[in-house]
Amino acid sequence: MQIETQIGPASTWRADALVLAAFEAAAGERPPFVAGLNAALPWLALCPAVDDFSGRAKQVMVAYGPRSWSIPRAILVGLGKFEQWDLDRWREALSAAFKTARELKIERLALAFPLFQGLPATPAAALDEGLAAGSLALYRYREHQTRDRDEAETGRQPTLVLCGEAPLEPADAEALRDLPAEVAGVELARDLVSGPSNQVTPSYLRARAQDLADTYGFRLEVIDREQAEALGMGAFAAVARGSREPACCIILEYAPSARAADPPLVLVGKGITFDSGGISLKPSAKLEAMKMDMAGAAAVLGTFHVIGRLRPDRRIIGIMPCTENMPDGKAYKPGDIIRSLSGQTIEVISTDAEGRMILCDALTYALRFEPAAIIDLATLTGACVVALGERVAGVMGNRDDLVKQVAELGSAVGEKFWPLPLWDFYFEDLKSDAADFKNVGERKAGSIIGGVFLKQFVPDRIPWVHLDIAGPAWTDRELPGIPKGASGFGVRTLWRLIRQSLTDAPLNRS
Ligand code: BES
Ligand code: MN
Ligand code: ZN
Repeated sequence: MQIETQIGPASTWRADALVLAAFEAAAGERPPFVAGLNAALPWLALCPAVDDFSGRAKQVMVAYGPRSWSIPRAILVGLGKFEQWDLDRWREALSAAFKTARELKIERLALAFPLFQGLPATPAAALDEGLAAGSLALYRYREHQTRDRDEAETGRQPTLVLCGEAPLEPADAEALRDLPAEVAGVELARDLVSGPSNQVTPSYLRARAQDLADTYGFRLEVIDREQAEALGMGAFAAVARGSREPACCIILEYAPSARAADPPLVLVGKGITFDSGGISLKPSAKLEAMKMDMAGAAAVLGTFHVIGRLRPDRRIIGIMPCTENMPDGKAYKPGDIIRSLSGQTIEVISTDAEGRMILCDALTYALRFEPAAIIDLATLTGACVVALGERVAGVMGNRDDLVKQVAELGSAVGEKFWPLPLWDFYFEDLKSDAADFKNVGERKAGSIIGGVFLKQFVPDRIPWVHLDIAGPAWTDRELPGIPKGASGFGVRTLWRLIRQSLTDAPLNRS
């Protein structure tokens, strides 16, 4: 993401096209364009395209001016009715504008500050969300396509030219400062989730973690399967045993020297690079989608990419248990009793509930850092997709204020979280006759039971939040700012959480 600014009279702005957004006008009237932009495009009033533009939601038109003009094109996007405006509409409109710019092979795309000031949101939020959505809408995963079906679709990004007569307010400029790093973090997560499981193996994730460590000076620690066994990570090792692909638990640490002894924020991400279900084999329909079962780990790596670029003043640790879940002569089996790193024993009912098996040992491992808080992200349950759909993640934990904070920060960046309860009585369903508890209950309350299972591994004194991202990690339809496929969900929320924790309760580092 490349951003340039041009400050000066509108007549001096230069670009290949300028984005103009407008709310829907009453019948017979022209939509009111944001004031202050006419000076940049004096030809626009003469252009008949404007007469055909109503400003209704999803409308996109291109208006052309004289070829020699400093800005010869306007991309007009409709925002729909003013009363119905929300950030998702806005993201959708900017996504549409950016995609049109790509079709036109626009190299320099202008966005003028007045555009972000006439909206029912703070200019900082409008700027942040508009540019993030527009830029991320152009994401493409083309690594394995050797026949380029459409040259214009290669994911090339225009240079964004931010134009204003006066500089941005400091608060708005600050919002902008983090944006390219956030976008790059989301793109990294999308690349990893998009990659097929024969490429994106645990070793591949480890190599990417190594790249980040080399680039940004993170400490990297890797626990392989034998070491995990020796350490007592029996639940992680049980899942790993069924795969020929070497498993590993990746630990990344970022610690500014003045903060090296602080209690860290720990981010835990599920890294199942392919989930066949194991011996409790999944049906083959849609099984190819299970390459995305490492989206939690991808979100943590994406967040570390942001951390490396923006260097927040707090200690953060990422833990990513990574393995395939496969059927094999050595695979763990229903009925097996597994001893977790915590010492608690687990009766395996379904080997397809492997996410909680690898996560529980990662959570216990996290405790050795005496965390200020733990946030885990996992494509944990199909039940969460049934309950909330593919745009919304479940959020649960042992601190209501933290759960609420995550949900609020998420909604500001278009990542939707909805709370689920973890009342103690749910644990009844996990009671086992043979071990401390089972790894699954009945079908009822599947996502909550997943959360209740994980809760057994987090002492009450440690604030903890579990994010079930099974729905939004991947989308089968295009969404505002998200092409079909991997979403990179979680990265922006985690970054906002880190940023906010530098100053605000309840995660304040001091
Ligand atoms: N990775 C799946 C969950 C999943 C399903 C993610 C659909 C994304 C889309 C997870 O490991 C799993 O198999 N969960 C089981 C849990 C059950 C055995 C309690 C499920 O959802 O069926
Ligand atoms: Mn599974
Ligand atoms: Zn899984």
